[in-house]
Amino acid sequence: DKGLAVFTSGGDSQGMNAAVRACVRMAIYLGCKAYFIREGYQGMVDGGDNIQEANWASVSSIIHRGGTIIGSARCADFRERAGRLKAANNLVQKGITNLVIIGGDGSLTGANLFRQEWSSLLDELVKNGSITAAQQEKNSVLHIVGLVGSIDNDFCGTDMTIGTDSALHRIIEAIDAISSTAYSHQRTFIMEVMGRHCGYLSVVAGVISEADYVFLPEYPPPTDWPDKLVLKLEQERSAGQRLNIVIVAEGAMDREGNPITAEDVKKVIDERLKHDARITVLGHVQRGGNPSAFDRILACRMGAEATLALMEATKDSVPVVISLDGNQAVRVPLMECVERTQAVAKAMKEKRWADAVKLRGRS
Ligand code: F6P
Repeated sequence: DKGLAVFTSGGDSQGMNAAVRACVRMAIYLGCKAYFIREGYQGMVDGGDNIQEANWASVSSIIHRGGTIIGSARCADFRERAGRLKAANNLVQKGITNLVIIGGDGSLTGANLFRQEWSSLLDELVKNGSITAAQQEKNSVLHIVGLVGSIDNDFCGTDMTIGTDSALHRIIEAIDAISSTAYSHQRTFIMEVMGRHCGYLSVVAGVISEADYVFLPEYPPPTDWPDKLVLKLEQERSAGQRLNIVIVAEGAMDREGNPITAEDVKKVIDERLKHDARITVLGHVQRGGNPSAFDRILACRMGAEATLALMEATKDSVPVVISLDGNQAVRVPLMECVERTQAVAKAMKEKRWADAVKLRGRS
């Protein structure tokens, strides 16, 4: 009679639906009640129809759909204890003490705080008469498991986050398309690629599209980057290349920590080369569309493993994130991953780029 709820939080990513489906179906298979929480933490706080029991059929025909069918939101209310108290009441009323959170590090950190506060929240709910002592006793421990859904691949502890591979497919399709028109007109295209503070999408896209130059947050170029860029583009043209592709990660910066934008790069090219240079900002196209085969299977495996981890959890188990390690879906302590991810952000802020790369590890 265990109740398990799954929700998606923060920015969406392709493959989230496949993960939701796997969590729900594995829960039903194991004999638990499965629930969706719609609109992320906001739905948990607001309760009502946002928390709905799911059945086998309610997750049919979603494995191939991008985004998240149960909605996602950034929620200010959950940052306050009052919001978390409401959320705890809504969960206890439905007998839900197992949560799968599909989101980024902020969402997972929030869930861990909620888990730590759970017993004091329940004490307060008993005191104000919202729940009975029997309900408190029955729901005394909250178990949580995280799945990382993000196109950025910026989370420490997993080789790949759900959505990254699909985003790379979107990016490379766009660069291939741009390249054919660039070739015809001998143009230079500057492509702005997402990834927030992480250059993973940009560096991989750069390698697999034969880009001439890539600007990344983790490897800020020296101050003479305009000379180096101009030299490289000239060399390629004089070797017979009819086009140039330059990739600028949205978080790219110089060694002073000042942003380097696609406009900055275009300005250099316009002023110093006689190229017809154009900017393409790929934007949310990268986060849209159907998940790739890789993301679907990754999400299926991670979702099933998340439910298994919850069903096996005891009151002393530490919360985990389901990660990809080589080709294995493994359980890694959630706070270890969150702390490492935050240490990367700190190192980047303090301009310790090499440390950031080292801390981030394999991915
Ligand atoms: O984290 C995913 C991501 O798409 C980043 O790459 C990007 O910086 C950000 O989200 C955009 O967020 P929003 O959709 O809220 O504008």
